[in-house]
Amino acid sequence: MRIDIVTIFPTFFDALDLSLLGKARSKGIIDVGVHDLRDSAHDRHRTVDGPPAGGGAGMVMRPEPWGESLDGILDGADDPLVIFPSPAGDVFTQEMAKELAQETHLVFGCGRFEGIDQRVFDETASRARVRLVSIGDYVLNGGEVAVTVMIEAIGRLIPGVIGNPESLVEESHEDGLLEYPSYTKPAEWRGRQIPPVLLSGNHGAVEQWRHEQRVERTRRVRPELLEEATPEDGETPQ
Ligand code: ADE
Repeated sequence: MRIDIVTIFPTFFDALDLSLLGKARSKGIIDVGVHDLRDSAHDRHRTVDGPPAGGGAGMVMRPEPWGESLDGILDGADDPLVIFPSPAGDVFTQEMAKELAQETHLVFGCGRFEGIDQRVFDETASRARVRLVSIGDYVLNGGEVAVTVMIEAIGRLIPGVIGNPESLVEESHEDGLLEYPSYTKPAEWRGRQIPPVLLSGNHGAVEQWRHEQRVERTRRVRPELLEEATPEDGETPQ
């Protein structure tokens, strides 16, 4: 997968060199290009913002640097999907991460200040698929953290990124339930035991216990997820 990121803070994305995503990059599974928006601002101060038309607080990102930077990425690109992180976008979920992991080219545009001039979205949407995506109902100072979150969630679903793909199967939000609690050695720690069923060697009983734990935890922490869960998840929607 090719990923391009436009930002005024390119070093933010140094984090993508770490851990499993860093390995996926060095193996060539994920090819990331980080573009400094200020490289496309040509005045003496490399200005990327201006006061809002019509007045009001804060600054808005000017369209020209965005246009030039996105031209450099989109011209000749093969069916890219452009994502602008925004608290006003569709909410990012595991479902959306799976969908986006099927794409071959994602372009992320990180806004700052009070946002980006609307014409950038409109013009980009005239030549590429565009989505506004929110990572949750709270407001960040800019899109960089949101894009890091999305790339981590999407990247780990790309074949070859996670060594053991089985670890993707029973985690939280896979099939609408939260994950079961995990334990490792020692069998007793500070007076606390590992649940005996996990040491029983009875695979069926372990599976059953883990499933019950997932349903119980989901009911306690996120009951609304159970209403959306399918009957195959072991719970009939109420
Ligand atoms: N930019 C500012 N807040 C955001 C959010 N919640 N999600 C995505 N991008 C954002």
